[in-house]
Amino acid sequence: MEPNGRIEKPIITLDHVSKRFESAGRVKEVVNDVSLEVNENEFVVLFGPGQCGKTTMINLIAGLELASEGTVTVDEKQVDGPGADRGVVYQTTALFPFCSVMGNVEFGPKSRGIDKKARRERAQYFIDLVGLQGFEKSYPNQLSGGMRQRVGIARAYCNDPKVMLMDEPFGHLDAQTRYMMEEELEKIWQKEKRTVVFVTNNIEEAIYLADRIILLTNCPTTIKQEYVVELPRPRSYVDPEFLKLRRIILENTDETL
Ligand SMILES: Nc1ncnc2c1ncn2[C@@H]1O[C@H](COP(=O)(O)OP(=O)(O)O)[C@@H](O)[C@H]1O
Ligand SMILES: [Mg+2]
Repeated sequence: MEPNGRIEKPIITLDHVSKRFESAGRVKEVVNDVSLEVNENEFVVLFGPGQCGKTTMINLIAGLELASEGTVTVDEKQVDGPGADRGVVYQTTALFPFCSVMGNVEFGPKSRGIDKKARRERAQYFIDLVGLQGFEKSYPNQLSGGMRQRVGIARAYCNDPKVMLMDEPFGHLDAQTRYMMEEELEKIWQKEKRTVVFVTNNIEEAIYLADRIILLTNCPTTIKQEYVVELPRPRSYVDPEFLKLRRIILENTDETL
């Protein structure tokens, strides 16, 4: 047990994982021998240059891609496809355009046959948690980019996944909204702890959110270094310790090829 009461127990394990894609007779290695353990309720950020293989790593954990070598294990089960135990939030959340916010958030429990009262209560809890109370009846085309990502987060949470996989979820937002969403996500995560694997190529976002930052190399990607972020939360982007860590990590980061 750690001092903060967290129990060290790996929920996600990548064991010597490599991924190669074949197209038009050519083989491209994208992930090269990555081994990683993510503990229960830990917030891990994968940080690396553009096109290095971050989305591919998320897809391997999500089960949308299968490893060419090595194994991916989530909650003691080897990943062989997507599953409700892993919620995914993407850069652009594909919401159902003809469903309201409520309809989108309750979609998972509804499709699993949870009765209306129970699933509405659950969906309302997460709509409130992400700050969308009052927008239950709004449709996706009536929402801003930040609000759509909030819906995506609430929808993923509503399935009660063990693990949240977030692939640059704030990458398309303007800087101001992005800062706000980083703060919001931290509050949500403090309240509803989950194991999170979060991808970004924004160093401030990585340091603001992470318990641990995994620095990735250029493609074919592998782990270059890990940084445990011990700064107290909520963090300040202008804290000298924050800026020091930022410099250390950036000096060690590959340039996008
Ligand atoms: N299905 C695929 N087939 C062939 N190449 C792919 C496929 N998916 C990703 N790649 C290649 O893998 C590399 C890394 O992609 P990606 O994981 O999306 O990087 P990142 O998310 O870090 O920007 C890119 O060069 C991309 O073209
Ligand atoms: Mg990507």
